[in-house]
Amino acid sequence: MQIQIFDTTLRDGEQVPGCKLNTGEKIEIARALEELGVDIIEAGFPVSSPGDFNSVQEIARTIKNASVCALSRAVEEDIRIAALALKYAKRPRIHTGIGTSDSHIKNKFKSTREEILKRAVQCVKWARNFTDDVEFYAEDAGRTDNEYLARVVEAVIKAGATVVNIPDTTGYCLPHQYGEKMAYLINHVSNIDRAILSCHCHNDLGLATANSIAGVINGARQIECTINGLGERAGNTALEEVVMIIQQHSSLNLSTNIKAQQLNPVSRLVSDTMRMDVQPNKAIVGSNAFSHSSGIHQDGFLKCAETYEIINPDEVGADTSKIVLTARSGRSALAHRLLKLGYQYNRNDIDTVYKEFLEMADKKKEVNDADLRELANAYSAETVS
Ligand code: KIV
Ligand code: ZN
Repeated sequence: MQIQIFDTTLRDGEQVPGCKLNTGEKIEIARALEELGVDIIEAGFPVSSPGDFNSVQEIARTIKNASVCALSRAVEEDIRIAALALKYAKRPRIHTGIGTSDSHIKNKFKSTREEILKRAVQCVKWARNFTDDVEFYAEDAGRTDNEYLARVVEAVIKAGATVVNIPDTTGYCLPHQYGEKMAYLINHVSNIDRAILSCHCHNDLGLATANSIAGVINGARQIECTINGLGERAGNTALEEVVMIIQQHSSLNLSTNIKAQQLNPVSRLVSDTMRMDVQPNKAIVGSNAFSHSSGIHQDGFLKCAETYEIINPDEVGADTSKIVLTARSGRSALAHRLLKLGYQYNRNDIDTVYKEFLEMADKKKEVNDADLRELANAYSAETVS
């Protein structure tokens, strides 16, 4: 079963403080996303500022294969402006919606469930006047009562929504709850076969990726995500994580159009352009994702990479696996690196060099090649060419 990858790096991702991009930078990222194979690019929220309108318009002109999507609230003018920004898109999608949890209904809209249901239907009808591809979002669906959510979903599909987004806006759900929500909608919405359900998860409890995967296991067919997991507060579902989970676990019988070898280059482009460093231990794209530093791991890895690596770094466009020499490293990793540098020792000599190495490593965080050469030159070794 094919999962649509909906990238929102340029919309939800760009909401991160300090990440503001100009139009040229957004076009460069949009091109890279299209090249990566994403199915839908959410380019921005056109009514929010003239700059964002312009960016969405330029991305819509540039992108040829992916759908280009613009966000709006359930407000007629927002939808009109979104449609205008998408005028030149080959495949335009309008993403419109409203909060459906009791908290949003009472505190944000000072309204009632019935009134919000009417506004949900109305905004989809407005959007359908401009395009056949209309996605409805039920903001805070994660905390919305399932019975009411099912009524809203059924009504917006009847009004013409082709995709229905079920956002866990506050990152509150546990994976089994989010999965059950999708299953509930599939089993209780009579016209569900006329639309696809989409996962949009935030990472406030570190569960965004797990929740998105639970969503697709339970019948959703689209995942909304960002490169490097960028997004409001603790971020959104990381694109690279869901793609590689789907690829690694063939038993899920799911697939995406993503060209995995471009994951690391696109991650670097987004990190550099948005000036947001990627944490070193980030799955798939962190600088330590393919580094081994403990003796036990290094020994196992050097005997057979698969013992400690489930993904070959080449598959995701990362640099080759690294053996980092620290005070936790073992003899075999030291001997392996020394041999690479051209020094070969017999078993007794490597014991002596190893002792010296540990003293040096206890003083330094990481022992580099220059340190090793200094160490090796102090001991008689057979230099190999
Ligand atoms: O998190 C959220 O609910 C959103 C919607 C606007 C789609 O980003
Ligand atoms: Zn969001």
